[in-house]
Amino acid sequence: MTKVALIVGSLRKASISRKIAEHVANYFPEGFQMEFVEIGELPIYNQDYDDDNQVPESYTTFREKMQGMDAVLFVTPEYNRSFPAVLKNALDVGSRPYGASVWDGKPAAIISQSIGNLSGFGANHHLRQCLVFLNMPTLAQPEAYIANSAQLFDSSGKLTNEDTAKFLQSFVDAFVEFIRKYT
Ligand code: FNR
Repeated sequence: MTKVALIVGSLRKASISRKIAEHVANYFPEGFQMEFVEIGELPIYNQDYDDDNQVPESYTTFREKMQGMDAVLFVTPEYNRSFPAVLKNALDVGSRPYGASVWDGKPAAIISQSIGNLSGFGANHHLRQCLVFLNMPTLAQPEAYIANSAQLFDSSGKLTNEDTAKFLQSFVDAFVEFIRKYT
């Protein structure tokens, strides 16, 4: 079984990023297990926690869970032309202590979304920059920039835009092939 972590860069209840993540989780084939890994309870990273052996329990839970994952799919909005701080914090927490990064070598993919036309391009590429350093091979094509995202779902939360659904399926298919190369 290949375990894929779904990490969402928004904490809000009605998050469109989460809706997209829930939707694409259903597109993975047999043999893939999708798991949402929550990042909202992680205290802001402070190196003293690790240096002074006072690691918050939530860090340990998160790190252990992520160590057991084979791949990571990030679905994120854009905040001020970058990705949200909560997601950067999760990257930082998972990257330490030095030499024990939970990210190292894990294949990744990114879906960015925005309620406007710009589709989270800035968030997507700032995140990519971090993943390079974290040694995460990251799916290059297709790129997933989802624009006008509030218009994709109906009032029950169902994704009703067929073109987007088709595109997201092709994105997942490419990611599955990509993961197979690395696992
Ligand atoms: C935004 N939003 C936004 N959108 C965008 O396209 N580019 C941006 O730089 C920003 N900046 C930004 C900053 C902050 C602090 C907030 C709260 C929002 C709008 C954002 O795309 C929209 O709120 C999304 O719906 C957020 O994603 P979730 O929470 O629905 O997943």
